[in-house]
Amino acid sequence: MPRKMREKSRSKSREASREKQQKLDLSPDTTPWSLVGRVLASRFARTVYLWGPPGVGKSYVAMHEGLADRPVAALTLTPETPAAELRGGWMPKGSGFEWRDGPIVTGMREGGRVVLNEVAYASSDVLAFLHPVLESPETARLTLPSGETIEPAPGFQVVATDNCPIDQLPEALRDRFRSVIKVDGPHPDALARLRPDLREAALRTYDLEPERAISIRGWLALQEFEADLGCEDACRVVFGRERGEQVFKALRLAAA
Ligand SMILES: Nc1ncnc2c1ncn2[C@@H]1O[C@H](COP(=O)(O)OP(=O)(O)O)[C@@H](O)[C@H]1O
Ligand SMILES: [Mg+2]
Repeated sequence: MPRKMREKSRSKSREASREKQQKLDLSPDTTPWSLVGRVLASRFARTVYLWGPPGVGKSYVAMHEGLADRPVAALTLTPETPAAELRGGWMPKGSGFEWRDGPIVTGMREGGRVVLNEVAYASSDVLAFLHPVLESPETARLTLPSGETIEPAPGFQVVATDNCPIDQLPEALRDRFRSVIKVDGPHPDALARLRPDLREAALRTYDLEPERAISIRGWLALQEFEADLGCEDACRVVFGRERGEQVFKALRLAAA
């Protein structure tokens, strides 16, 4: 089949499978945060996709909860991240080179957790590297450029985080995540760091207009800046002029 036709038919089948996914609505309901830690701690949760709006605590939880005494490493992907950053490579040493493991290889050897933030950015290079890594433990194998083949030690876990539903990931990657967790509001421990009035305002925006909700980072920054700038200017600096004014008015109204 000529290349153009092949590409066309491939893109048609991708479209059809996307439609099917949407019809089946495979996205889970929102998972309560209390369950997230338990899922991460489960020995069966080898590959986890954790998604939801920005700034709710996904990366934080992936770094801290359900680890027991496992080591953890995190990496944020960009479209330019090469597979070598995950796998490792030959580094100059003296007059020669020595092999240095990347975070995935270290995680596989030590039975640790690897957090991959913004996984939807994975390039085809990174995808080709990740596919065998994310297989079930019986089949996951990685052959390094040094010729060494490694298998995942018990406890090895990949937790990927992003803002998009899983059906927006490339099909082969999507297929390898055995647990999918959706969160849509800020983690209670993150909220607990806010003053009661800011916490209430944050929760109200998440409830009333989730699409305009402000990342918990914004509320934390407002709380800090306020001491030096006063509430009105802090709102403006953190949230921008228009949104900042709305937040300031809402806070004043709630205080009245
Ligand atoms: N469980 C938590 N306990 C304390 N602070 C938290 C917690 N979760 C999030 N935060 C705070 O909120 C910020 C944003 O959380 P992060 O995990 O980076 O969000 P996301 O990955 O969902 O975009 C963190 O840098 C941290 O300061
Ligand atoms: Mg994050």
